[in-house]
Amino acid sequence: MTKANNATIIQLKSFLAPHIPEQLLESLPKRWWFLGDIVLFSLPRELIPYGEIIGKAFLQVLSKPVRSVLGKIGPTTAIIREPQYHLLAGDPNTETIHKELGCLFKLDAAKLTFSPGNHGERTRLVQITSPGEIIIDMFSCVGNLSLPLAVNNSPKKLIAAEINPLAFHYLQENIQLNKVESIVEPVFGDNCTTLPRYRDVADRVLVGYLFSSEEQIRLAIRLCRDGGIIHYHEAVPNKATAVQRPINRIHNAAMLEKAAVTILSRRIVKKYAPGIEHIVLDVRISKK
Ligand SMILES: C[S@@+](CC[C@H](N)C(=O)[O-])C[C@H]1O[C@@H](n2cnc3c(N)ncnc32)[C@H](O)[C@@H]1O
Repeated sequence: MTKANNATIIQLKSFLAPHIPEQLLESLPKRWWFLGDIVLFSLPRELIPYGEIIGKAFLQVLSKPVRSVLGKIGPTTAIIREPQYHLLAGDPNTETIHKELGCLFKLDAAKLTFSPGNHGERTRLVQITSPGEIIIDMFSCVGNLSLPLAVNNSPKKLIAAEINPLAFHYLQENIQLNKVESIVEPVFGDNCTTLPRYRDVADRVLVGYLFSSEEQIRLAIRLCRDGGIIHYHEAVPNKATAVQRPINRIHNAAMLEKAAVTILSRRIVKKYAPGIEHIVLDVRISKK
């Protein structure tokens, strides 16, 4: 995520001053991020009617070459996590290749999520994963969390599940682009149907979806070998009454699976929405 420097904000405002009411200039985005050669930002509701000229201002003012400008005009929706972006200016072809952690991610930036706020978690996973591991990514998207592990950490095997046909298409392309075909096995469909056959094999299971069902948490536990680790993500209200909720869910699922769990850490990945945090628990699973 790029926090605007004052010079860029001043340039944006002076470009836009003749085109939008003065009081709205303060609502202009102050942060944006890049996916490949595409720039993205949240566009406040009151600026939606001025989206096209704001897009042109970004094309004009940013020092980095940018092909398309996308404004997020609503929340990411549905199980397949479809973001609501409008093309504000530039090339309507919003497919791009983003480079991060030595990895190439090809994706359509307008149709799929690749959160800049998860960069720290993507980096942390690369730092803590050992060579030779068997890893299962239950919610792969285009390989957001797990492809950097295939590229950097020499796992023995990485099984990547994805239900959205478009995300799965890019996942397959990215496996080839990064030349990790011999390591990564992409699995298309609902993880509750496709993954149960990998019972008791994983050193590490990535549960990188904020709204997993009890069935999916139990599945993550079943996929782990004795001593394996689950990285469990959840969107949690930061009220005292809710903070314990993800830990309770893990304990409940473990009890149903007759496994023991040790909570190794609880981290905030990012602010998800006002009063809601995206958290990740690292959990060791014991089965004996
Ligand atoms: C929000 S994305 C997260 C991607 C990545 N794990 C990350 O943290 O950046 C969640 C992905 O899980 C996929 N998904 C949701 N339900 C699924 C299911 N039952 N089986 C497989 N994939 C699923 C969605 O299509 C989406 O691509």
